[in-house]
Amino acid sequence: MPDSSSAAARNKPIADIRAALREAIAQLERRHLPAAAKDAELLLMCALGRDRAWIYAHPEQELDAATRERYFSMIARRAGGAPVQHLTGQQEFWGLDFEVTPDVLIPRPETEHVIEVALERLGAGPAAGSPRRTEELRIMDMGTGSGCIAIALAGEMPASRIVAIDISPAALEVARRNARRHGVASRIDFVKCNLMESLPILPAHFDLIVSNPPYIGRWEAATLASEVREHEPESALFGGNKGTELYAPLIAQAALLLKFGGLLVLEIGHASSEHVLGLLAAPAWADVAVTNDLAGIPRVISARRGPR
Ligand SMILES: C[S@@+](CC[C@H](N)C(=O)[O-])C[C@H]1O[C@@H](n2cnc3c(N)ncnc32)[C@H](O)[C@@H]1O
Repeated sequence: MPDSSSAAARNKPIADIRAALREAIAQLERRHLPAAAKDAELLLMCALGRDRAWIYAHPEQELDAATRERYFSMIARRAGGAPVQHLTGQQEFWGLDFEVTPDVLIPRPETEHVIEVALERLGAGPAAGSPRRTEELRIMDMGTGSGCIAIALAGEMPASRIVAIDISPAALEVARRNARRHGVASRIDFVKCNLMESLPILPAHFDLIVSNPPYIGRWEAATLASEVREHEPESALFGGNKGTELYAPLIAQAALLLKFGGLLVLEIGHASSEHVLGLLAAPAWADVAVTNDLAGIPRVISARRGPR
């Protein structure tokens, strides 16, 4: 006869939510992770498929063995340095949830300034109640990664048509899935391309070109957090030995592809503004502006295409 008491013991839930969370935070703190409590919560929400409010409303809810195992295996990977977003498979950007994998850069909050500047300078400001641009604007996103910039812009400008390019076919697959998830796939063409050089597109085609290109220098690699260096794609991080190498060809190609008066919006690295400003000279470029991020660091450079 099966021993029902030991089967029951095996199946017995082994911890409640409060104890599991406490133990997970302790494990992450032992590895000196700066946001141990937040990470432990996020991973518990993912393991349980519940939101934060539910978790705090049910501290005594017992975890079954499978959930507990799933949770503590994520905690172990996080303690080993894997980004939370690679464990949950998600990152929020511009109020939308994006799938992320190790094939794409995890969208960063400061990149939202690219969207803000683009919308503001197109007269379609992000503030609630501001007008939307409802005509068909032609937009290019160079280095689309997860597709976060292209998809956010597609959502804000409902008649826009977007070409989103990347050198990484694996990144483009993630971006395509994100576009389907957000219902904008029919308005975005995803194209594998090295910068914009071999695109079969006539000059003076786009109203807006945006890019968050890789801009970290190889010389700085050792200064990056290992979580970034070891887990995010090299092609998304490094722009060359100095880091700024892609801006010159990118700006030259944008000058060709933008309409007269068309807008270029570029994210830049912490020490790149002088270099990039030097590439945006009159008469090819006009109305050049630098936007700082919330930390006061120059983060976005924008400019209008001048007369040809
Ligand atoms: C910094 S990531 C930006 C990803 C996304 N746009 C974002 O803001 O989160 C740069 C992206 O550019 C792509 N990339 C790098 N070099 C490229 C090149 N020469 N041509 C096209 N794409 C490139 C990378 O694969 C990566 O997806």
